[in-house]
Amino acid sequence: MSLRKILFALVAGWLPVAYAPAAEPVALSINADKPGPVIEPAIYGQFAEHLGRLIYEGIWVGKDSPIPNTRGYRNDVLAALKELGVPVLRWPGGCFADEYNWREGIGPRAQRPRKVNTHWGGVVEDNSFGTHEFMDFAELLGADAYVNGNVGTGTPREMAEWLEYMTAEGDSSLAQLRRQNGRDKPWKVKYFAVGNETWGCGGNMRPEYYADLYRHYVTFLKAPEGNKPLRIASGANGSGLPWTEVLMREATRHMDAISVHYYTLPTGKWDVKGRATGFSEDEWWATLARTWRMEWIVTEHSRIMDKYDPEKRVGLYVDEWGTWYDVEPGTNPGFLYQQNSLRDALVAAINLNIFHQHADRVRMSNIAQMVNVLQAMILTERQKMLLTPTYHVYHLYKPFRGARQLPLEMSAPVRTSGDLSVPVVSASAARDGANRLHVALVNLDPRASVNVQIKLSGAKPGRLTGRILTAAAMDAINTFDKPDLVKPATFNGARVVDGVLRVEIPAKSVIVLSEVGR
Ligand code: AHR
Repeated sequence: MSLRKILFALVAGWLPVAYAPAAEPVALSINADKPGPVIEPAIYGQFAEHLGRLIYEGIWVGKDSPIPNTRGYRNDVLAALKELGVPVLRWPGGCFADEYNWREGIGPRAQRPRKVNTHWGGVVEDNSFGTHEFMDFAELLGADAYVNGNVGTGTPREMAEWLEYMTAEGDSSLAQLRRQNGRDKPWKVKYFAVGNETWGCGGNMRPEYYADLYRHYVTFLKAPEGNKPLRIASGANGSGLPWTEVLMREATRHMDAISVHYYTLPTGKWDVKGRATGFSEDEWWATLARTWRMEWIVTEHSRIMDKYDPEKRVGLYVDEWGTWYDVEPGTNPGFLYQQNSLRDALVAAINLNIFHQHADRVRMSNIAQMVNVLQAMILTERQKMLLTPTYHVYHLYKPFRGARQLPLEMSAPVRTSGDLSVPVVSASAARDGANRLHVALVNLDPRASVNVQIKLSGAKPGRLTGRILTAAAMDAINTFDKPDLVKPATFNGARVVDGVLRVEIPAKSVIVLSEVGR
């Protein structure tokens, strides 16, 4: 029985494995000799929308700011993101994308139109961060650019001209305009999406209508040979399988990927979502069980995609995901500013493990969002900055980028929360280009450690190093006064006994074990 089947059986309650803390060791077997697909580095992608204090303050402070900056980008955030590595960055939205007019974000900054950001807080968007600022930032980071086009309020001509402006080589008027605005060489636009959440804020469309619009708009997205972007169709909301069905049925041959969005709300309700800190143990489990829903989402959307694209040419991009809580008290509700605790670290690790296991279809994900918004990597308060527990998980998981996934099977007990269930251990494994093994393990239990016994088929484990992220409290956070309260430490709790790798995973923790010097 495959891991997926076992987990489904467990979640569906078909297998009688009850949850009992610290009971029998959890058996995990890793097929080390059967490497699966490459874990695309783009699975570690990020998302930066014109929302709250993300772009303005979080990234862009302008050249004249007292905050130390490089050409207007704040140095502390830039350095932290470079250290992390950002393989791909999605911009300008989100909902913002379907009201964005790219022409308003080019040319002399003082002359750019000031507009109301109708989606996010009703504040004035002065367009000082536009195409040049985004592409320059992506280049500084070494990130591939993922530009999200406007279908909701833009025309096919506007979309086509934006792509031409960014990629044209010759002396067309748009190429000349780009040069006049300071950029000689065309930019590389690796990914381009045709609309965002077109079932919702992007136009409240029916899938049949959007499928036609997608085909229409994408026809005119032209770029020079060697710089043609991968074309992304705006995909479903979480469990909205019919959306994927219609889009795949009507437009598979016109797309390179389709997206899906899913947010983890502790309560599952949009009016009262639940708090980022100060939550109960029940809310801890409810949050982790709701995030585990991602396993079902990617499995089911992939199943539909397999019907229309058995060769798996088209990628499933989870280009928005993460926790979404009630905003921090006293902050603008439209800015989606929330703290980020150890619970978010576990959410990140569980989702990354799911994406690794589905690497055959999931080839990009973009956590929402990069700085100061939702499940952020980084929080800022004027000149201060901190790295969140989520950042630390992304850093711990770096060895998985570009490695080959290893299939695994596990018999973890399951914890139920209301009508939801979640395995108490989450895991993934991979071999990197130097043939080194990496294993990620998460213990969801906030109280008890768990013993995992790992059998490696086809290989003997070499010398391992380990890193762990945990904290004393479930809702431990980093603050501007204590920015290092939650940070990774060395982990020495793994041993090989009779060829079996035994790991005691402390309560509420994320561990990455890596082979050294193979
Ligand atoms: O990430 C915040 C918002 O969530 C995005 O703008 C939108 O696409 C989604 O609903």
